Amino acid sequence: METVEYEKYIDSWLSSLLRLLKPTASIYICGDWKSSSAIYNVMSKYFIIRNRITWEREKGRGALSNWKNCIEDIWYGTVSKEYHFDVDSVKLKRKVVAPYKDKDGNPKDWIDSEEGAFRITHPSNIWTDITIPYWSMAENTEHPTQKPEKLLAKIILASSKAGDLVFDPFLGSGTTSVVAKKLHRNYCGIEIDNYYACLAEKRLDIANDDKTIQGYHDGVFWERNSLGAQKRIKANDDHHIYGNSTLFEQFAGSMR
Ligand SMILES: C[S@@+](CC[C@H](N)C(=O)[O-])C[C@H]1O[C@@H](n2cnc3c(N)ncnc32)[C@H](O)[C@@H]1O
Repeated sequence: METVEYEKYIDSWLSSLLRLLKPTASIYICGDWKSSSAIYNVMSKYFIIRNRITWEREKGRGALSNWKNCIEDIWYGTVSKEYHFDVDSVKLKRKVVAPYKDKDGNPKDWIDSEEGAFRITHPSNIWTDITIPYWSMAENTEHPTQKPEKLLAKIILASSKAGDLVFDPFLGSGTTSVVAKKLHRNYCGIEIDNYYACLAEKRLDIANDDKTIQGYHDGVFWERNSLGAQKRIKANDDHHIYGNSTLFEQFAGSMR
C-alpha cells in the first residue's frame, strides 16, 4: 500500500477511537520502518507525540541486497499534557560489566548478589531485551505477528495503573488483554478473525492460574540472555515459599 493510502487507512480508525479515550489516556502504535512515518503523520494530528521507541526484535528474514529488517517502531503519545507514567515499574536489571566500587569498597550504583553483579537502570527508548515469542516459549501461538508479553508488560506498567482499562482494537492472539489481566488491569479487545479470537480466549483462560510473564520477575525486567540468573533466583524463591507453607501448615496444625 502506498504511504498516502496507508495514512488514510490509519486515519479511518484512529480518528474514531478518540472519543473512547480519557483525557489522561496514553496510546502506543507499532509498525516497521516502512509504515513508521505514516503512523507518525496521522498520530501527530490527534495526539501529543512523546517518544519513538525502537524495539530490536532480533529475529528477521535475512536479505541478499538489503539490511535485514529486525526493528519495529512503537510511537508513544498522550491525549493531553496530563498523563500517567510510572518509570519505577519498568526499570531494567542489567549485568554490570565493570563493577566500580567506592573508596570504602562498596558497590557504586549496583547490587552485589548471589546471582552476580547487577544494576537497576532507567529504561530508554531503545528496547534490546525482548525477543519475539519463540516456538519453545509457553506464550507462543500460531498467530504470525504475535507480540511478546514482556513488550506489552512494559507499556501497560508504565502507562496505566491497576484497575485501569487497556484497549487494543487489533487484538490478534490476545497478548494485550492477557498481560493486562496478569497485571490486574481491566481489558477490552477487538479481533476480526474468529480463530485468533479463540486463541485469545484460550490464553485468557490460562492466565486465570498462570500470572507469569517471561523476562519480568520481582518487579524488574531482565535483560536478554539472563535466564540462568533468573532461574537461580526463582529456585531460591520457590525454596522460600515452600518454607513458608510448611510453617503455615505447622501453625494450622497446632490450632486443630
Ligand atoms: C498485528 S496483528 C496483532 C497481533 C497481536 N498484538 C498479538 O500479540 O497477537 C493485527 C490483528 O488485527 C486483526 N485485524 C485486522 N483488521 C481488523 C479490524 N478491522 N478489526 C479487528 N481486527 C482486525 C488481524 O486479524 C490481526 O490478528
